[in-house]
Amino acid sequence: MDINATMKKMTLEEKAMLCSGLNDHFTKPIPRLDIPSVDVEDGPHGLRKQMGEDTLGRHPGTCFPSDVALASSWNPDVARCVGEALSRECLAADVSVLLGPAMNIKRSPLCGRNFEYYSEDPFQSGTMAAAYVQGLQSQGTGACMKHFAANNQEFLRMHIDAEIDERALREIYLTGFEIVVKEAHPWAVMAAYNRLNGAYCTESRRLLTDILRDEWGFDGIAMSDWGAVNIREDALAAGLELEMPTSGGYGDRRIVAAVREGRLQEEVLDVAVERMLRFIDKATKAKRDVNVDRQSQHAAAVKAAEECIVLLKNDRNTLPLKKQGIIAVIGGMAETPRYQGGGSSNVAVEQVDIPLEEMRGRAGDAKVLYAEGYVTERNDIMFQLVVPECPCEYPDGQRIAEAVSAAKKADCAVVFAGLPESYESEGGDRKHLRIPEGQTALIEAVAAVQPNTVVVLNNGAPVEMPWLGDVAAVVESYVCGQGFGRAVSRVLFGEVNPSGKLAETFPKSLSDTPADFPALAPDLETTIYREGILVGYRYYDAKEIQPLFPFGHGLSYTTFAYSGLRLGSDAIFDDETLEVALDVANTGEMAGAEVVQFYVAKQGTAIFRPVAELKGFAKVFLKPGETKQVSVHLPPRAFSWYDPEKASWVVEAGGYEIRAAASSRDIRAVAVLTVSNRTPEMPRFDRNSSIGSVIRHPAGREVMHKLLEGFVATSFMNQDGQDPAVLTDVILDRFSDMTLKSLKMLSAQTPMEVVDHLVDALNKAVNR
Ligand code: BGC
Repeated sequence: MDINATMKKMTLEEKAMLCSGLNDHFTKPIPRLDIPSVDVEDGPHGLRKQMGEDTLGRHPGTCFPSDVALASSWNPDVARCVGEALSRECLAADVSVLLGPAMNIKRSPLCGRNFEYYSEDPFQSGTMAAAYVQGLQSQGTGACMKHFAANNQEFLRMHIDAEIDERALREIYLTGFEIVVKEAHPWAVMAAYNRLNGAYCTESRRLLTDILRDEWGFDGIAMSDWGAVNIREDALAAGLELEMPTSGGYGDRRIVAAVREGRLQEEVLDVAVERMLRFIDKATKAKRDVNVDRQSQHAAAVKAAEECIVLLKNDRNTLPLKKQGIIAVIGGMAETPRYQGGGSSNVAVEQVDIPLEEMRGRAGDAKVLYAEGYVTERNDIMFQLVVPECPCEYPDGQRIAEAVSAAKKADCAVVFAGLPESYESEGGDRKHLRIPEGQTALIEAVAAVQPNTVVVLNNGAPVEMPWLGDVAAVVESYVCGQGFGRAVSRVLFGEVNPSGKLAETFPKSLSDTPADFPALAPDLETTIYREGILVGYRYYDAKEIQPLFPFGHGLSYTTFAYSGLRLGSDAIFDDETLEVALDVANTGEMAGAEVVQFYVAKQGTAIFRPVAELKGFAKVFLKPGETKQVSVHLPPRAFSWYDPEKASWVVEAGGYEIRAAASSRDIRAVAVLTVSNRTPEMPRFDRNSSIGSVIRHPAGREVMHKLLEGFVATSFMNQDGQDPAVLTDVILDRFSDMTLKSLKMLSAQTPMEVVDHLVDALNKAVNR
């Protein structure tokens, strides 16, 4: 497309119309100028192409593990393969952009849409999402990262104001998006419904232009979440090119009027139109002669799911199951698994692997008994709207008795449980962290008669497990896509060694969680992120709260030994990248994969910062007895914090620990590093500077020491005739939180000029 020539031919009305949708999912074509329409569809873990006017009429698609599960693989290659497979379906269905990845931070486990989000950690989230975007776009389908930004709750999501301090915004809520923009160059971003610090995200120039484009270099288009635009001309001026879906021409008319009335410069519209044309041009270049082989897509979904499943607990090596004796499979979710979440991401699947059938198929000589235990909710939103209560909300005495009798006869019991769709979905948050009471009662009853009870969970976010101490093993499989049934049965029987780890903390109870979540106070229309940067493990570590399962936790059927942690250098400057390597050995008897996590912890920090932060990870596959090296590099950003006063990332000089860990609470090796500032910061002291901040600088300490020593030697403080030099040091440290001004209090005769001279002398000395 000759973009310049096309733009010259466009009327004002045509320019405006290009900036909004034709209908639910298409952009507007302009046949006169050969501008085609482009199809943008949901996303993220399957293609949900809408057919016709009926919102429930959908093109069949493969349902891959949702983002919570993908994140648990800790393998960017898995996310990349899922992106590639999805891209094939999009190309075949003439879809140009898939609306994903969804990558908001899991601020609270209550958020109803957590199943669609990756992690509580921005580095983990951004790294996994970037790989997904690379996979998708490498085949010719664009990605649209969403929801930008701070859409961390579903309650009042259309207008809630997320009030977030600048540091938390940068360090926690924006970093993931930044990683995706810089590493994967997504074609599009979706501006969230909510407000952020007072401004609607769709109208925030700061977000859409200053940060996204000017700071990060984003070169795609920004579209609104569906129906998120308020004042169309303001959104356009802020940097929102595309309003979705159609506004029936209303938004276009507002743009035209604003230009005519001089409230909006036509050049602003031109910039948006040019970006739209580039986007459309790119979208129409993809080769679409792709055949989708449903079987290989399904196989890809199974393979991905196998890496996502997390083994949380496995006492006495209860798992893998033996293919002999009697196995009692219990729970309606074994027949009707919950393999995807509810809402815009819901895919119309053609094939679903049923766990019970898959287990029967690979049980070998074992006899499989089945008891329903509870009635499962139908995974059907229309059904749930008319049935007010989940059928397993209350214990079902008869079904539980049948399950107990099966469990008694068996050598082990595998109970399938978790969250029904009505408990968590787009558009609503959870009120508590419990699974339905009917399932809790079932697990407790089965565990009371069967010591080898295994619980398999399907859920999109953490749940409380009051029965954890009574069961032998727990498998967290999240909402793991249409291949879940096969994947989980292969894990249960040891055909696949589990290798997933949690990308979020499982708290013991809701009261342990960091966020003061608004669902508990429904009258609030502002959510104040009071916990600041202490999100997820950052909070549990800072408050020394023992979680149920920590961030990064996941077991294997084999064991791994870490050794030889080594740094490229033990001293670097703040603009250098550190290479880190470690050897990992498989010390067990089964092939398996280990996710090694690298946390950076500042020693003796002068600022408020998390105890340790994830800054690198690597997954390594090892045969029994095999050792391999894993390595990561830690760029300056890994040591930085965001200083709102300077409006920039700052590396604090000093000592750092590099921790190689199997989870955030299982540190296996530590190496120490010194980071120096290439251009040390020049401090400026004044009367109200603390003595502590002065004596941290050797030159400052020297000046203070000289000044005080004479005074100390002769003052009442030296009654015992101590060495004045030693005593001076003691006094300086003891009074480090007092200000320079307060030195005047040492003696009534000290005039304020002395303090002024001291301030001058200090500034000269430390800046020399
Ligand atoms: C959701 C988006 C989705 C869009 C289109 C919105 O309600 O928040 O994630 O992509 O609908 O279906």
